[in-house]
Formats: sequence, structure tokens, C-alpha cells
Amino acid sequence: MSYSSFELLDHSRPVLVFGRNGQVGRALQVCLKDLKVPAVFLGRADCDLTSESSIVKVLNRYQPQVIINAAAYTAVDKAENLGERDHAFAINARAPAVMASYIANVAHGILVHYSTDYVFADTKKDAYFETDPVGPVENLNIYGQSKLAGERAIEEVFNLAHNSGHTSYADKFARYFILRTSWVYGDGGNFIRTILRLAAERDQLKVVADQVGAPTSAQWLAEIGVQMAGSRVESGIYHAVPDGEASWHGLAVFAIETAASCGEGIEVRSENILPIPASDYPVPAKRPYNSRLSSAKLKKALSEMAFTGQYPHWQKQVEAYVKEYVSNSLKS
Ligand SMILES: NC(=O)c1ccc[n+]([C@@H]2O[C@H](COP(=O)([O-])OP(=O)(O)OC[C@H]3O[C@@H](n4cnc5c(N)ncnc54)[C@H](OP(=O)(O)O)[C@@H]3O)[C@@H](O)[C@H]2O)c1
Repeated sequence: MSYSSFELLDHSRPVLVFGRNGQVGRALQVCLKDLKVPAVFLGRADCDLTSESSIVKVLNRYQPQVIINAAAYTAVDKAENLGERDHAFAINARAPAVMASYIANVAHGILVHYSTDYVFADTKKDAYFETDPVGPVENLNIYGQSKLAGERAIEEVFNLAHNSGHTSYADKFARYFILRTSWVYGDGGNFIRTILRLAAERDQLKVVADQVGAPTSAQWLAEIGVQMAGSRVESGIYHAVPDGEASWHGLAVFAIETAASCGEGIEVRSENILPIPASDYPVPAKRPYNSRLSSAKLKKALSEMAFTGQYPHWQKQVEAYVKEYVSNSLKS
């Protein structure tokens, strides 16, 4: 992938990235720097996404043609607390709507936004497609509801702009890509890091085995977001997860065995990583049992972009991540 091949983009305008200190935001910094893409990375101190005027101010200042929104209210359990709902909706629904309203009126504008498997609530046993109905809303946790509201707000803004004829760039329509993903790990707090820490401290672990999804690398998500931004593919929702599936228990066993094989000090033996049902691990926010997402639509889009990279399997990516993590922690 090279930036010069992004022929629809005005290379003099910086890509604006929200969420610079998050897992995907950090990965975007690496990815865009590697590609030598002019970009501005904003954290909470630069732009508080609960403040519409703060967002409008940075949009007017940088006048981006491409926005990648990797910021989100991601404290899934905390969101269930009284008083947190509005906060989650401000960041996950209203802020993306403001970004969409700006980009929808930019010639060849692009908004890349990340969303979640938590917009689904166990209405299927196998992988969800982008065309499957979401919700029902009353069965989603507050975080899932707020992320769904963000998806809908973006779609609504773009539909209105395209149908109203108000946009002055009808022949150069702006596009949006909502990348729904699951179980993200990267540079930041995540399940894999927690489980490796616990595996070094304890001789027995109990891990949920009846919730299934795909662990997804933040670095890969960043690359996919950038690839979509430079593409000619159609606006819409795309499921972005690697191949394969795992339960949290399966992921824990795989990550711990990989770390042990690299010489990391691990206390727990595989047979002492015990599978438990989610009902034995009560948390404030209800999570879906089925977090499987089909990436068939994304794969088709990537093939149309002549994307040469091999589509990844989660095990390969987790193995690389754990090996790098272990090698860094052994060094420090
Ligand atoms: N993590 C997962 O397992 C997962 C699963 C499915 C989908 N996703 C989606 O993937 C995307 C990236 O997730 P991630 O794991 O990279 O998230 P993350 O590590 O939690 O990062 C989120 C970022 O958003 C920023 N943020 C929160 N509130 C803000 C505010 N009011 N103003 C400005 N910035 C604010 C945070 O800033 P601070 O650093 O200052 O707190 C943080 O850097 C999100 O859209 C998320 O919903 C994540």
C-alpha cells in the first residue's frame, strides 16, 4: 500500500484522526507515519468529543478531506451506571454525527468510523452479515446502543446530503465506512494483556467459554481503515474481523501457551485454565454470546482494490502480538 495510489485524495490536506491514545488510534499513528501520510492526531486534550463546538473548531481549523474516528466511549460496564448514558451517547453517537455532517459536504470526503459487534443481541447462531437486523435495541447494553446510534446518525447524515441535492459536489460524493469489529487488542489495556498478567500470578484461572467472537488486531484495523480511505469502494457498513473464531477461554489458552513457548514466566498450566459459563462471571453490562461477524463483504471490497495482503486468521495475529509483547516485557 502506498499513499501515492490514493488518487482521489488531496494529498495537501492532513488526515484527521480522533482517538490518538486509544489502541486503534496508536496503531493509526504507526500506519500513517509508515505511509508518510500527512496526518493530525487528536486526543481528548486537543478536542473533547462531548463538546460539539470543540469538534467544529478542529474541523474548521484543519479542513480535512479524510477523518478517521478511532475515539469512543469504550467503558462497557461503566456505561451502565446512572448518569453515564448521556456521556456515552455524546461521544459515540453525537460526535460522529458532527464529523459526518462536515465530511458529507466535502468533495471526495471520507469518514472512517469504527463500530462494534455489540450492536447485535444473539438473534442468530452463526455469523452476522451487514444486512442482518441489529438489536433489538432493548437487548443491547448501553455501549452497544450508543454505538448503534452513532452508526445510524452517520448513515442518516449521508443519506440526507445525497438525497437533498444540497451538496455542491454531487459528482464527487463523499463516502463513509463504518467498520464493525470485535475483541480488539493493541497498544493499551486489553483481554490478552490482562490474562497474561494473571497467568504469571496465579496457578488457576477461570475464563468464560460460552461467548464466541474473533480477536482483532488494532494494527490490522488501522491498516484496513486506511486502505478503505484510499479506495473507490462504496459507502456502507463493513464487518472487519480476521478469519476464525474463539471463545474467551480458547483465546486465553492460546495466548498463554504462546507466551509460555516464548519463555515468559507463566504460573498456570493449561489444564488449570478452567472454562466457565458467562453466568458464573457476572458483569454490569450484558454481552452477546454470539459475536461472530462475517467479513465476506470486506474481503470482496479488498479484492476489488487489488489488495495483495493475505486475509489474516486471528491465531496468526495473536501469536505475533503475544511474541512481540513477551519480547518487549522480557527486555524491560
Ligand atoms: N476495544 C474493543 O474490544 C472494541 C471492540 C469492538 C469495537 N471497538 C471499537 O473500536 C474503536 C477503537 O477502540 P479502541 O479499543 O482503540 O478504544 P480505546 O483504546 O478505548 O480508545 C478510545 C479513545 O477514545 C478517546 N476518548 C474517549 N472519550 C473521549 C472524549 N470525550 N473526547 C476525546 N476522546 C475521547 C480515549 O481518550 P483517552 O485516552 O483520553 O481516554 C481513547 O484514546 C472504537 O470505536 C470502539 O468502539 C472496540
